[in-house]
Amino acid sequence: MKRFGLFLLLSSALLWAASTPVEAQPAATAAPQTGQIATSPHWWKDAVIYEIYPRSFQDSNGDGIGDLNGITSRLDYLQKLGVDAIWLTPIYPSPQVDFGYDISDYENVDPQYGTLADFDRLVAEARKRNISVIMDLVLNHTSDQHPWFLESRSSRTNPKRDWYMWHDGKMVNGELEPPNNWESVFGHSAWQWDAKTGQYYYHRFYIQQPDLNWNNPQVRKAMYDVARFWIRHGVTGFRLDAITSLFEDPSDTDEAYVLGPDGKPVINAFGDKEVKTDKTDNLPEVHDVLRELRQATDAASGRKVVLIGETYLRSIDDLRKMYGAHNDELQLPMDMQVGFINKFDVALFRQRIRDAETEINGDEPLFVFDNHDNPRWDRYQTDAAGTPIFGYGLHHDDIGRVIATILLASRDTALMYYGDEIGMVTTPPARKQDVRDPIGITGWPKEKGRDGERTPMQWDAGPNAGFALPDAKTWLPIPPGYKTFNVAAEEGEPDSMLHWYEQLIALKKNDPALHEGEEILLNTSDDHVLSWLRKTADGEAVVVACNFTPQPQTVSFNLSAQGISRSGLTTLLKTPGAPDPQSADSVQLGPYGVYVGQVR
Ligand code: GLC
Repeated sequence: MKRFGLFLLLSSALLWAASTPVEAQPAATAAPQTGQIATSPHWWKDAVIYEIYPRSFQDSNGDGIGDLNGITSRLDYLQKLGVDAIWLTPIYPSPQVDFGYDISDYENVDPQYGTLADFDRLVAEARKRNISVIMDLVLNHTSDQHPWFLESRSSRTNPKRDWYMWHDGKMVNGELEPPNNWESVFGHSAWQWDAKTGQYYYHRFYIQQPDLNWNNPQVRKAMYDVARFWIRHGVTGFRLDAITSLFEDPSDTDEAYVLGPDGKPVINAFGDKEVKTDKTDNLPEVHDVLRELRQATDAASGRKVVLIGETYLRSIDDLRKMYGAHNDELQLPMDMQVGFINKFDVALFRQRIRDAETEINGDEPLFVFDNHDNPRWDRYQTDAAGTPIFGYGLHHDDIGRVIATILLASRDTALMYYGDEIGMVTTPPARKQDVRDPIGITGWPKEKGRDGERTPMQWDAGPNAGFALPDAKTWLPIPPGYKTFNVAAEEGEPDSMLHWYEQLIALKKNDPALHEGEEILLNTSDDHVLSWLRKTADGEAVVVACNFTPQPQTVSFNLSAQGISRSGLTTLLKTPGAPDPQSADSVQLGPYGVYVGQVR
């Protein structure tokens, strides 16, 4: 199985294919017009959200692990880039089995990352720069070291017993077996035997991540209280982890097996017969929780908090439902349909972007192309068989510009991942003994884990790439390409990826058509070039063209069908070295070339 498919497939997904209100603060330095900070219920519309993996962003204390003070020290950089919000993956106290997604205390900060006071300072400093802070909220499971679970497993009669998913085993040929064949996303049975109390508990992820029982009203209340706690600390959004997996089918019956083309069960990277997830993912009760959570966060924040969902779903219909029948659930469920096509197929991109325009009731799409669970966009360079060739390949920068342009010039809220803007590449471990992510150990060599997309941020060409003090031992190695691909070097190069991102983000904020124009797909039978128009009601228009091939292409646009009789173009942005077109009749694109032009 291809590495990039693993997390998505196992998430059952991509087979189809403050009570303290936040006040606006003036920008500290001249920057693209931000001002989208949470002053209104819709502050997140058209925003640029930047995902930070705190372990890997900036170390401030020399332990080789990134921390909150490190992030605070880099806020000026983020402001200059133009981001409206940062999403922090979990920083709560945790045994760090799943690097923070196993939480043992929801209302504090892990000492590795700092203190609650450091967090408050980060929020305050971010606010001065018009940057909102979004927390990761892990509702599906806790750490097995969380006091709730320690109580729950202490006896069958403990009041917290019912906070988790306990179940009797079944006898098969005189042997005790788990209740059914459900599998963990991270390999093997999803049921773990507890000898002391003689029952199994369910864990969708690691054994150390027992699932909470969301049918229990006390669990719900406890988690809504957690959200209120962080809203009091100035958080203006939550990214809801694994949100589709809160409920399991009460019948507890076996899942069907996923069958391959030969009709036999597919064997996954962990050596298991892969099961479907019909009984453990996206059950209708999830929507009840989303409505309740939305009511809680709206009430606590004066409707300023945004709920973002980690929503790997099978179809656009499922995605639409995540917004709620009355826009009363998630404001921003992640649209993984566009960002995880994982190959340059113009027709497929066009179809998925059209779906986002026409099939979600005009709601705001949230596009995302990579994150801490999936390879970076260097995965789009493949060999003839479609296998990704990670690293700085021939068209690395060109492909990066295509991805960035789809993300930032579409009608969407854009979610980017730290390091995208400097073209960081996926750097998986070469040897099993170097793997840090436990799934890479269980699944080696087919599944190398997620270390490759979590390497330290490359700030400069000095020791430890500026991520940590020179003599620190970083928790993951600094990737080899850092001397060329780093912030300091790219700030000095006009044609760098970093400048491409800065310019696109500035256009997204300041150009009326790119900021708020409707999106119309153009040249819809072209198999090589993806083109679209952004257009406002008062006639502002911009065309965007992305060449999906390594061969040069020429495109022409007849915009009369869109009510535009003009055909002159003023270049806003183009791949370095490409000619300046005189009109929309002939736009030349180099290999994976990009053109963005204002129609005049
Ligand atoms: C989400 C996170 C992932 C984590 C898993 C279990 O998918 O993005 O990193 O391992 O949930 O919490």
